[in-house]
Amino acid sequence: MSLRNRQQKAETNMLDERSSLLDGKVNDRRRGAQWFGWQHFIVFPLLIGALYVLSGSRRSLINEYSLPSYYIIHNARVYTVDDVQPFAEAFVVRDGHFVDVGSGTELRQAYPDAKAVDAGGRMIVPGLIDAHAHLIEQGLALLQADVTGAMTLSQVRSRLVSYLDAHPDIESNKEWIIGKGWDQTKWPETNHQFPNASDLDHPRLRHIPICLFRIDYHAFWVNEAALEKIGKVPKKVDGGEIVRDSNGRLTGVFLDNAMDIVDNAMERPGEKRLAEAIEAVTQRMVSYGLTGLHDAGVLPWQLDFLKSIVDAGRLPIRNYAMIKCPDPAHYCGDIVPQLFNYGDRLTVRSVKLFLDGAVGSWGAAMIEPYSDDPTKSGFLRMNETDLPDLVWKWIRHGYQVNTHCIGDLANKITLDAYEEAFERLGEQGKDLRLRIEHAQMVRLEDIPRFARLGVVPSMQPTHATSDMSYVGRRIGPDRVRGAYAWQSLLNAGVSHIPLGSDFPIEGINPLLGIYAAVTRTDVDGSSPHGPTGWYPSQKLNRTQALKGFTLDAAWAAFQDSELGSITPSKKADFVIFDTEFMKDDLPPSKILETQVVTTVVGGNVVYGTLGGFTT
Ligand SMILES: *[C@@H]1O[C@H](CO)[C@@H](O)[C@H](O)[C@H]1NC(C)=O
Ligand SMILES: *[C@@H]1O[C@H](CO)[C@@H](O)[C@H](O)[C@H]1NC(C)=O
Ligand SMILES: *[C@@H]1O[C@H](CO)[C@@H](O)[C@H](O)[C@H]1NC(C)=O
Ligand SMILES: [Zn+2]
Repeated sequence: MSLRNRQQKAETNMLDERSSLLDGKVNDRRRGAQWFGWQHFIVFPLLIGALYVLSGSRRSLINEYSLPSYYIIHNARVYTVDDVQPFAEAFVVRDGHFVDVGSGTELRQAYPDAKAVDAGGRMIVPGLIDAHAHLIEQGLALLQADVTGAMTLSQVRSRLVSYLDAHPDIESNKEWIIGKGWDQTKWPETNHQFPNASDLDHPRLRHIPICLFRIDYHAFWVNEAALEKIGKVPKKVDGGEIVRDSNGRLTGVFLDNAMDIVDNAMERPGEKRLAEAIEAVTQRMVSYGLTGLHDAGVLPWQLDFLKSIVDAGRLPIRNYAMIKCPDPAHYCGDIVPQLFNYGDRLTVRSVKLFLDGAVGSWGAAMIEPYSDDPTKSGFLRMNETDLPDLVWKWIRHGYQVNTHCIGDLANKITLDAYEEAFERLGEQGKDLRLRIEHAQMVRLEDIPRFARLGVVPSMQPTHATSDMSYVGRRIGPDRVRGAYAWQSLLNAGVSHIPLGSDFPIEGINPLLGIYAAVTRTDVDGSSPHGPTGWYPSQKLNRTQALKGFTLDAAWAAFQDSELGSITPSKKADFVIFDTEFMKDDLPPSKILETQVVTTVVGGNVVYGTLGGFTT
């Protein structure tokens, strides 16, 4: 099913739930329970949902419902991701935690007072965790103007005009139009070159600052009104480019680190817009079975905002947020408090550092020049000589360090810096779980260093399939053997590879990642090496892929004692799917068709219902 269909489905479900509320049947949890009886296991909206509906608000219905606090799910095919008992038929949940896992008959005898819920033979897995994604960016992206697929400049302009028609408050609030998705390689009018600010000119748009992300999020394109707001700019920017024409005038395109110039000129979205964004993204997350994410770079003010969302009870998923300092090359731990399980939702004890760019724009820092453009070898986003001290400073203050590294040079420099920290710490450094985000292109001799040092490669299977059409050419046949090398890392002794999507760069649905991990093909089953997949020896099997999105992710956040598997005493986060995609004989294409039936966080349903099941 297409994303659009999925979104419509989620919205339809919400409307159904809302109309039952408006019928006045269930605006009281206990009364509701008596009316329906738990045998129907209809779930009851929390008061907050009722208030939003009764106040007539179209948005902001938090999709969280209460269940009885003590229940047993049986007649299920449970993949626990727990080696002690990898497969089970049933489990018991009490007060938000798993209390027992095993056979249905035995558990029903042992827990006669638990409300019994028949899962109808469906598959259940632990709540999925996206180990690298961007919550607020994705939420805002869902609200942004979308020019993806525009084949001409005038299509871009007309999409923006329609967007403005649909969002008249932008003009009255003096907000910017933020959009995404342009791709100059599609446009004959610019000769496939970068556009300029006047290409965005239109009578309706002229007075509104416009800023559009390129499709890879590595460039901004702004209009004249935005350039006016931006004002004076520096001559050049390390690790980025301010594009100028032959007369030295700004064209309105800003690459990589130069994008900060535009960011700084932009009004920060208002709290109302941000709350809408969080609601939009978390609703989609739970509709895909995600119960948590590792938020890969959250600014201090964004952390404050997330806290307020947690305080309001409006964060249905768990967020393991990595701090992003206003200047990521400098320590900022003194302006952000650490948080552990704040409101049972938010943890802040790690930092995101950024070492290089992306491979799509030749920005990934490589030791040797690119094979398809020997004039380039990428760039570092900070001075490598500063990295060891910066890493050390964060570690000393009790933080986990997670560094963005795509190219083999960035990976090597970071492994060196981490190694230096481990040497300084000796035994104390044993369990730091320092991470490299992406670990995308690694020299073969650096692969065993991950295992030896205990450095965690945090990887994104869909990046491999998105990049596979050109990466072989870009870095050549030798270096590509260390690219997206999941199985090589495991064979070298790496114990955990947390998996993620990097949304909004890739889709939110974690099944896209599981599919990419087990096939290394595009969603249509093709790859540069045919239907068996791109470098198929690097594929993960389904067990490994599921572990990456559950236990390995929990482990990489120091949360493996409470999350990541269906294990007694852990928090009851789990997902019921309509298809048993973990069965090895099921064709991989079925993974993509699989739908979430129910998503549960801490014992409470946050998506779907358990209604309609017989007990
Ligand atoms: C912007 O680019 C267009 C082609 O897309 C060109 O015709 C125009 O002269 C350029 N404008 C400026 C101000 O450079
Ligand atoms: C990096 O820092 C070192 C030491 O502070 C300095 O000598 C060097 O010039 C810097 N390199 C760059 C590219 O800024
Ligand atoms: C998946 O890989 C793991 C690790 O190599 C192995 O132990 C397991 O048996 C494999 N599972 C299947 C179903 O092949
Ligand atoms: Zn990212």
